[in-house]
Amino acid sequence: MNSNSPKLVDGMGRTIVNLRISVTDRCNFRCTYCMPADNVEFMDRSNLLSFEEIHRVVTIVSKLGINRIRLTGGEPLMRKGLPILIKMIDKVEGIDDIAMTTNAYFLKDQAQSLIEAGLKRLNVSLDALDPDKFRDVNRRDCLNSVLEGLNTARKVGFKSIKINAVAVRNFSEPEIMGLIEMGRSDGFEIRFIEFMPLDSDKTWERNKVLFGHEIIDIIKKKYELVPIDNSLEIGPASEYNFADGKGKVGIITAVSNPFCDHCNRIRMTADGKLRTCLFSENEHDLKNLIRNGASDEVIAEAIQQAVLIKEPGHKINLKDFKQPNRAMHAIGG
Ligand code: GTP
Ligand code: 5AD
Ligand code: SF4
Repeated sequence: MNSNSPKLVDGMGRTIVNLRISVTDRCNFRCTYCMPADNVEFMDRSNLLSFEEIHRVVTIVSKLGINRIRLTGGEPLMRKGLPILIKMIDKVEGIDDIAMTTNAYFLKDQAQSLIEAGLKRLNVSLDALDPDKFRDVNRRDCLNSVLEGLNTARKVGFKSIKINAVAVRNFSEPEIMGLIEMGRSDGFEIRFIEFMPLDSDKTWERNKVLFGHEIIDIIKKKYELVPIDNSLEIGPASEYNFADGKGKVGIITAVSNPFCDHCNRIRMTADGKLRTCLFSENEHDLKNLIRNGASDEVIAEAIQQAVLIKEPGHKINLKDFKQPNRAMHAIGG
């Protein structure tokens, strides 16, 4: 892309460089903050964009200035043949970064083929190191598989691995320092994410959110932290270095201190709907355009128009907040 190329700029002047692509709404976990315990209705497979269709969208947005792609789910590794898609995306001119957010369960078997395909970075969801707490929050008894997955990812050469822990009051507090110590000793950046109202069970309440500043206070009892300037200009995490030089930690304060003014991302669901905000109430149907024979120009124009009316931010803290119809596993996080 040169400086004259069109860009995706929204009505508030924010430039969009990051597309998060959900490749499936299925997941092998049933995390309480995301999915119901059972009877989940998944998308019909015929509605999922094919790899060719996803590749086409990536090619179109790369010409609009998107240079970072993140694959999400549900659990993205539930989608068969993902390394094939990664290879296809890796060849698209202008895409500098391909990352994935995963629960790590399948990494033991797939990490090698993912890195060979061109995947650069992994963010792994891990909320608790206590096996009983892990089972309570993820509704699966498989902490060891996740730890093995992380280990394999390291061994095959993934250098940047972040760990995401959803921060829930009266649940996460005793897990914080264990995760911090693991991050420092094994070289993972641990990030705590304030629990957001995106759970299928609709049990979210403000008093269930463990706030970022409380997490920082807990960590500071043991370690001095030095804030990293401008981290919000890159992603949603406010980051801190440990003053002793051993690693960093991130806090995603989506509820207590929204970062929407810096938002640089849009999302596409597995069934090809463009969402200009995690909390969008309206979606833009790219699948219909693609399957009805629209040209690249028409699709590009639709994406630009959608971005122009991107939401200024979420309304979690306002009276008229409405939880999106889609739960997190069907949006992609
Ligand atoms: P990098 O910064 O590129 O490593 O990735 P990321 O942090 O954007 O991706 P990841 O999927 O790991 O995001 C972590 C979590 O942060 C998500 O699961 C969401 O819970 C939250 N998050 C990510 N993007 C947004 C966003 O745009 N808005 C809000 N409110 N939360 C977000
Ligand atoms: N609030 C905050 N983060 C959530 N995630 C899923 N549901 C929620 C929620 N309600 C995060 C998980 C995972 C990513 C896919 O989304 O931690 O890292
Ligand atoms: Fe962007 Fe919406 Fe997330 Fe705010 S809530 S940072 S506007 S995606």
